[in-house]
Amino acid sequence: MAEKISFEPPRGMRDFYPEDMVWRNKIFDAFRASAESYGFEPYDACVVESYELLARKAGEEVGEQIYHFLDKSERHLALRAEMTPTLARMVAQRQKELAFPLKWTTIAQCFRYERMTKGRKREHYQWNLDIIGEDSTLAEAEVIGAACDALKRMGLTSNDFKVHVSSRKFLGELLAKSGIAPEKHAQVFLALDKRGKMPDSEIAAMLRDGGLTDADVEATFKIMDTKSYEECPELVELFAIAGEAGFADCLVFDIAVIRGLSYYTGVVFECFDTAGEFRAIFGGGRYDNLLTTIGGEPTSAVGLGFGDVVVSELLKARLGDSAKERKGVAVGFMFPGERDVAVKLAAMLRASGERVDLALKPLKPKKFFSRADSIEAAKAIFVGPDDVEKGVVKIKNLETREESELCI
Ligand code: HAM
Repeated sequence: MAEKISFEPPRGMRDFYPEDMVWRNKIFDAFRASAESYGFEPYDACVVESYELLARKAGEEVGEQIYHFLDKSERHLALRAEMTPTLARMVAQRQKELAFPLKWTTIAQCFRYERMTKGRKREHYQWNLDIIGEDSTLAEAEVIGAACDALKRMGLTSNDFKVHVSSRKFLGELLAKSGIAPEKHAQVFLALDKRGKMPDSEIAAMLRDGGLTDADVEATFKIMDTKSYEECPELVELFAIAGEAGFADCLVFDIAVIRGLSYYTGVVFECFDTAGEFRAIFGGGRYDNLLTTIGGEPTSAVGLGFGDVVVSELLKARLGDSAKERKGVAVGFMFPGERDVAVKLAAMLRASGERVDLALKPLKPKKFFSRADSIEAAKAIFVGPDDVEKGVVKIKNLETREESELCI
């Protein structure tokens, strides 16, 4: 006898049953509508990349999480953990032909061998918005504004979420002022990003490992108490633009936002639910050196990644467990003799733009109406012998239970 295979997907991977697709579509529809409304152009790429492009600097968590393998020709390949290196590669490939600034968007499935916690899977879909080739802070404002717009399209308000913004450049200046040399900053950023996820004593140890003295460590923690961004021109400008654009109520300054990826160079941001129940909803920032790191021409860039996992948990918690809404018409018939009338009726309704679920064989009324309910149809038409004779069918509204008539 064949060995029984588990019906579960591999750990951390997800199946999407139709009821899950309702949520996914709601989220993706909002992503696409906001990207379109903010003038981003869609692009896509293959899920498999060369490992060389994705391999990371030591200390970056995402580097340890990469799914990688050798193909049959011994090429070292990997599943993308994020879209940004692929985007950089695509831009570098056509850097001479492209008209900058580019505003590109995609919804990319990404794979990370993560420790499984709430909001973290080993596969997720990530909406990306990137503006390549623009120094102006308006670029940061546009990507953050579009992401807030998407959350609002999903039914959330600025009471439900806040985008925490800071600047690595600003933090770097504060560290330099305290006498911490710039070559130590990358290590400091990686350590500080762990704040809240591990005790400060362990962070202090990481900072000392990175070459900081006890006095440096003390100065670093003091910097983390900074409450004002007035000394940071980019942040002053970002808050001012957000005021004009109407999303200033979604932003808060938070020096503790560092980001775990080392390629960020300027403004960085991360969005959280206000109640602090969930992991980050989206995150991003300015990354002006990534193109040069992979061998392209120096190009400024800013962007964000917005996963589907946390936001779907948040939507279910805030908006209730069901995203389903009744839609379309269920059409059924009692005996084989009414089949052709039902088929014609379905064709007519479909031609007028209705979504029609046509019963595939004769059904007893009880069975037909119970199926119409279970597929969440808004209306139902059940064709019986009398209806065919009279040339009139009844349309039942399944929400109000009201009936109207339609000539056939
Ligand atoms: P990230 O912060 O690593 O940034 O990921 C962005 C978002 O993707 C997170 O805030 C979260 O919503 C989602 N996400 C990440 N990992 C997982 C996971 N294991 N399970 C569920 N959701 C996850 C980046 O990836 C950058 N490349 C974003 C970016 C684009 N920066 C500039 N352009």
